This record gives sequence, structure tokens and C-alpha cells, in this order.
Amino acid sequence: MPGGDKFYVTTPIYYVNDAPHLGHAYTTVSCDALTRFRRLDGEDVLFTTGTDEHGQKVENSARARGIAPQAFCDEVSQTFRAMNALLGIDRHDFVRTTEERHIRCATEMWKRIADNGQGDIYLGKYGYYYSVRDETQYEESELVNGKAPTGADVEWVEEENYFFRLSAWQDRLLAFYEANPDFIGPGVRRNEVVSFVKSGLKDVSISRTSFSWGIPVPNDARHIMYVWIEALSVYLTGAGYPDIDSEKFRKYWPCSLHMVGKDIIRHHCVYWPAFLMAAGIPVTKRVFGHGWWTNEGQKMSKSVGNVITPKALIDKYGLDAMRYFVLRELPFGADGDFSHRAMVNRINGDLANDLGNLAQRVLSMVQRYCEGRVPKGGALTDADKTLLGAAQALLPKLRTEYAVPAYHRALDHLWAVVADANRYVDEQAPWALRKTDPARCDTVLYVLTETIRHLAILIQPVMPGSMAKLLDQLAIPADRRDFAALAASPLPAGAALPKPEGIFPRFVETEASA
Ligand code: MSP
Repeated sequence: MPGGDKFYVTTPIYYVNDAPHLGHAYTTVSCDALTRFRRLDGEDVLFTTGTDEHGQKVENSARARGIAPQAFCDEVSQTFRAMNALLGIDRHDFVRTTEERHIRCATEMWKRIADNGQGDIYLGKYGYYYSVRDETQYEESELVNGKAPTGADVEWVEEENYFFRLSAWQDRLLAFYEANPDFIGPGVRRNEVVSFVKSGLKDVSISRTSFSWGIPVPNDARHIMYVWIEALSVYLTGAGYPDIDSEKFRKYWPCSLHMVGKDIIRHHCVYWPAFLMAAGIPVTKRVFGHGWWTNEGQKMSKSVGNVITPKALIDKYGLDAMRYFVLRELPFGADGDFSHRAMVNRINGDLANDLGNLAQRVLSMVQRYCEGRVPKGGALTDADKTLLGAAQALLPKLRTEYAVPAYHRALDHLWAVVADANRYVDEQAPWALRKTDPARCDTVLYVLTETIRHLAILIQPVMPGSMAKLLDQLAIPADRRDFAALAASPLPAGAALPKPEGIFPRFVETEASA
């Protein structure tokens, strides 16, 4: 895992008929934290995200605006790129499904399945309930009072479609889950998928003739590919498919992790591995389904008008506080509720009081007692060794948590050391030692600055901006901020440190903010 390995992580591609909201930001930030963690750990990470631009809803939205679908997509896709910039997303590839490289990829994948000699794609007639809003087909048994389970209106549609013979894949899928117990996370999602597949699989329709905004089916341009089969192949596009001999594809495929919301776990854990196996392409190693956010206890929806935008959060609370909150507040995988109160508690508690105050107190004492220079550590006591040992033990623990990924537990480990360090400051009382035993005071402050260095380096994946400020205050050069530097580059005694400045201001309630 550490050092020199490679990793490929993807977010889902976001529908262009929607505007960026907290749900999109959540998936993206979680992948970004993972990407940063692995890059700092010496891995070569390919990180892709992008936009899902075909389908009937997009065609309808463009028509309603009186513009061509491509112009509509160009405009909305840009808002997702802008979201990434706002969220401080690290180096990544933004893939649009209207790009030539994706059209080539999806077309080739279709051909590979169609030509596999097993009849996995065939032409048939199909009738189904279809929701334009959800871009999903429903069985009669799934309808609730004549509507989709999501509440969307449905219409009965009958057309000639190409089908994927999913029914023939049941045993192979079950054998695949059995042989790859880590394929689906968390466990609750895995159980859900396994019982869905065990209950029997029906063939799925994978083409449409009722509208034209999509990628034509190879050798039958009357049909366009159904948006899901086409959209899923974007993960291959990101790795350079169909150039399977390219360095990129050989290096990054099979993909390491698809991060998705729990609502699209079935598409990623049932259809997608079957498509890949049918095309003779190795299957992605892991899919993780995270939970959904509500807003102050309510489902977010455009009609209720309570959709939280990433921009509103960042403007109000700051980027790093928002990133920290979403990764810390709930067990990754579970559903959560966004509330102003909970956010303010995290900002004023974990960030301002705990970490911010620790850094500010310690660095101010270094200024006052050590002439603003990194103090020299003398012989270490048991208490010193315990604190330093806890800081040094963090990296292997975090590697385990990020492999899940369980960001909340990674942050718990980090904040346990923040708490240890605050307790150590109180117990050692360097302000008193200053008068009675200045050499011991130096050692205590050395232990503390080293602990803060470990924390700042390891918290970077979640809060890159504020940790960069903290590392600047420790005068750590840019090339000594990765995980290899934790053990290799302790703070050099005597190095001059700049005057510390608070990194996490408290959130002060005003009438408007509450
Ligand atoms: N276009 C498909 C994905 C195709 S991937 C080959 C899609 N797009 S989406 O824009 O509707 O959703 C993107 C992601 O946002 C999904 O992972 C979804 O779970 C997530 N979220 C949407 N609303 C959410 C919340 N309220 N909370 C958390 N995540 C949610 O699906």
C-alpha cells in the first residue's frame, strides 16, 4: 500500500439536468480526501469525475430552454467544474460523456459485449413503466399508487429494444461476490446486493428509439444506447479504454474504487460487473455506497426549496470546515442530517477549541520562550514518549481506515491525539517550567511542535488549506509535507518560525446565521 503503488478512484458522473448540491459535493470531497491521502503516501492516483450528459431528460431540458442539447450540456457541465474548483479538488480528470473519447469507449464496449459469442445482447420487444425524471424503468410491482417509488410520474412505454441478457449472469455474479468479499462496502450494501441477485435477475433493456440524444448503437443507428450502460462505461473512458495496450490503461485498470451514493449501488454492483465480464474486461475492485444527507431533518428537494449548495456552505462556514464536517459528522456509509447547530459545534469545538487552540498556544509559547525558534529536545520522559508515540502511531491506523474508507474513524484517531496533546500541555505546564527548568520547557515544547507537525501533515487530506497554513507556521518546506517526511524529517532545532496566527476562527452567531 504505502509508496509507489497506483490507485484509480472515481466519483459517479453527475447529471447535467441538475445543479451542484451537497450530495455531489459529498461524493467528490470524499474521493478528494482519499486521493490526497494516497498521493501523500507516495501512491500514483488517477482521480476522475465528470458529467452524465445524455438521455431524455437532458433533451427535454434543452428543448424547454430552446437551445441545442450540446449547448445546454456545455453550460451545465461547467457548473460542475466550477464546483470542483470551489471545493479545492486536487488534480483530476473531468470526463464528459459527450466527448469523443467517451463515445469511442462506449461504442467499443458495446461491440465487445455484442460480439462475445454468448448472445448477451439481443433485439426484443419491451413494455415498461418509465419515469423521465428518474431516467429509470419500473416494474408494475414497484409502483406506488401508480407512481414511481420516488414519487415521479411514470408512463407505459413499448418499443423495440436491445437487451442485455442479465438473467444469464446470476450465478457468475454470485460467484464473483463470493470470490471478492471486498467488492461491495459497507456490509449492509453487500447484503442488499447479494439478496437482490439471489432473488433472480431479469434481462435489461439497453437501447432506446423514442428520442435521439445519445450515442448510436453500433451498426443500428435507429437506436441510441440507454444512458446507464453508456454512463457506466465512463470509468473505462477515464482509464483510456479502448486503448487497452496504452500505458494508462495497463496501469490503472481494473479501477480500484467507485465511490457512489447508496441509491446507485445496484447499477454499480450488478449491471456494471456483468457488462464488464461480458465484454471480457476485468472488474473494478471495490464499490463503496455512502449514505444520503438530509437538511435539518428534511429530504432535500428543489420543490421544497431546501437544497444545500456547496457555494452557500463554503461562503457561510469556510471550505475546510465544510470538508471536515461532512467527513467527521457521520460514520461514512450511514445517512446523516445537515444542521447548522451541528456544524457550529464542530467548528467551535473540534476546530477552534481543540486543534486551533493547541496550535496557537504551543506556537505562541515557542515565540515567547524560545525566541521563535524550534526548541531542542533533551532526554524524553515517559509522558513525552507516550505523546510522541501516539502521534507516530497514527499513520498505520489511518492507512487502515482510509482503505475502507472510514474517514470518521481516521479523524477520531487524529483528534484523540489532539486531546492527548492538550492534556499534556496542561499537565506539563511549560509556562511554569520556563521559570524553574528552562531546558525541560524546551523539551516539552519540542515534543508538542513535533506532535503538531504529525497532525498537520496527516490532516492535510481533509483540510488542505488550513493545514498548509499550519505547516507554514512550522516553517516546513513544501517537499517535506508528505507522509515519508513524518519519520524522515523531524523539525530541525533552531529553525526560525513565523509569528503564529489563528487558523480556525470561532463561528460567531449573528441573527442572520442561526
Ligand atoms: N448520473 C448518475 C450516475 C452515473 S455513474 C456512471 C447519477 N447522477 S446524480 O447526479 O444524480 O447523482 C450523483 C451522486 O450524488 C450519487 O452518488 C448520489 O448518490 C449522490 N447524491 C445525490 N443526492 C444526495 C444526497 N442528498 N446526499 C448524499 N449524496 C447524494 O446518479
